[in-house]
Amino acid sequence: MTRTIYILNGPNLNLLGKREPEIYGHATLADVEANCRTACAEGFTVRLLQSNHEGEIIDWIHEARNAACGIVINPAAYTHTSVAILDALNAFEGPVIEVHISNVHKREAFRHKSYVSLRADGVIAGLGIEGYEAAVRRICALLG
Ligand code: DQA
Repeated sequence: MTRTIYILNGPNLNLLGKREPEIYGHATLADVEANCRTACAEGFTVRLLQSNHEGEIIDWIHEARNAACGIVINPAAYTHTSVAILDALNAFEGPVIEVHISNVHKREAFRHKSYVSLRADGVIAGLGIEGYEAAVRRICALLG
């Protein structure tokens, strides 16, 4: 069985570190990837991907059905809009952890609704980029 954890990131997260740093901080996605590599239990590895296009994220979730043992996903704005990403995740059998860098519940009302939470085995919000590491640790623990 594959021991690769997919870490999927939605729109605008390519600008992490530059975009609204007062909300999302100064760390970049490259920092997220490095930290997640360190957080992995022995025998596991991570593959971090980011796209501004919904269909590409869906294609990666389909690919994960054979190529990944678990998914960490920050769908960004698609969290609040995408039934298609929810449906794709419902076709994935392994653990799924949803991550938000900011505490979406402390923000605008439209960020309080998450389609992805209907599938996620765990949801982390407001821990900054540490949320990704916690999610990776959780997936490693669940899969043993
Ligand atoms: C986010 C929260 C979303 O509401 C927002 O659209 C993002 C990032 C977060 O990580 O806090 O782009 O998912």
